[in-house]
Amino acid sequence: MSPRAADVMTAEFTGADQGQILDPGATIGIMGGGQLGRMTALAAARLGYRCHIYCPDEDSPGSQVTSAATVAPYDDESALQRFADAVDVVTFEFENIPDSAAEFLATRRPTRPKPFVLHICQQRLREKDFLALNGVPVTRYLPVPSREALDDAVRRLGLPAILKSAQFGYDGKGQVRLTADTNLDEAWARMGGPLGILEAEVDFALEASVIVARSVDGQVALYPPVENRHRHHILDETIAPADLKPETIAAAEAIARKIAGAFELVGLLGVELFITKSGEVLVNELAPRPHNSGHWTMDACVTSQFEQFVRAVCGLPLGSTAHHAPAVMKNLIGDDVKAWLEILGDPDAKLHLYGKAEARPGRKMGHVNKLKR
Ligand SMILES: Nc1ncnc2c1ncn2[C@@H]1O[C@H](COP(=O)(O)OP(=O)(O)OP(=O)(O)O)[C@@H](O)[C@H]1O
Ligand SMILES: [Mg+2]
Repeated sequence: MSPRAADVMTAEFTGADQGQILDPGATIGIMGGGQLGRMTALAAARLGYRCHIYCPDEDSPGSQVTSAATVAPYDDESALQRFADAVDVVTFEFENIPDSAAEFLATRRPTRPKPFVLHICQQRLREKDFLALNGVPVTRYLPVPSREALDDAVRRLGLPAILKSAQFGYDGKGQVRLTADTNLDEAWARMGGPLGILEAEVDFALEASVIVARSVDGQVALYPPVENRHRHHILDETIAPADLKPETIAAAEAIARKIAGAFELVGLLGVELFITKSGEVLVNELAPRPHNSGHWTMDACVTSQFEQFVRAVCGLPLGSTAHHAPAVMKNLIGDDVKAWLEILGDPDAKLHLYGKAEARPGRKMGHVNKLKR
């Protein structure tokens, strides 16, 4: 630990986190072994840090690029203890780890962001309640604790609406769009979870996101809002920056800043937004980690979202979020990755592959950043 740690000690730190600054050479423990962990580890290495990946799977995209890995379930206390002993700070590239694991780690090592942030972001109802409580605009929603409750929720909220599993959804999984023709028994079964949330469908003009970083000493850095286009419920393209009116940009940035403050965030947060046709900005959901819509920053910004994440988690000053070129990020999903050779021949394209062996349909295999020069 650095002796400078004492300088930044404040009341907002709890458990093992006393606002420590981790000097290069320290080891960052990352919970999760996906591509976000991989790209974080690569950025960390560039600043002289080591990373240790904790993931239930062997040969994960993250562990392929780190010198140390723990392969164990997320609730294995002896593995968590060994992991805590081996690292100087803990962070997450994946928010769906049990609260008990995050809390266990937080009593042993600075854990950034705090387990509380994961707890909120893991569950859509909690997340929406938290946002609403903090005065952040969200679409109208109702809890749906059972099949029986669905009829009443539909009556109160109206249609069309989206029924989502409150927990464990990603890439549109666990979601059903309800219209007047939908059979609610089938919709409830397809949603698949024990607890649902019904959201009024937003008739948006476009989807956007803002990535915000907050440092140990409360400094905030924002990347400009970007536009996100989905295909089959999976992010397909990010257009950066988004073509938005200055007042919409200001509203989006103010929302991201407010949420980061409300969380006392240390780390990175992706804020997914709906921009309505009347220019209203609503929050869809939060991701307390690097976000797919921030991958363009790797090649187009002074500081990538991954370096920014490392800086925040290690207690360093944040970097410039300025971009030197507009960019379009395209995800390579499933067989899209077969175009890798062609992409390498494009002088404005930067290819990023995640080291996944099998190109299953719907699986994110890599992405390409195309700089608009
Ligand atoms: N209330 C809504 N109104 C209109 N469209 C919606 C609504 N909720 C979700 N969608 C659409 O479905 C997409 C996925 O929803 P959401 O972000 O909640 O789910 P997810 O499974 O966590 O997705 P991801 O992992 O891609 O972020 C949104 O990006 C949007 O296109
Ligand atoms: Mg989403």
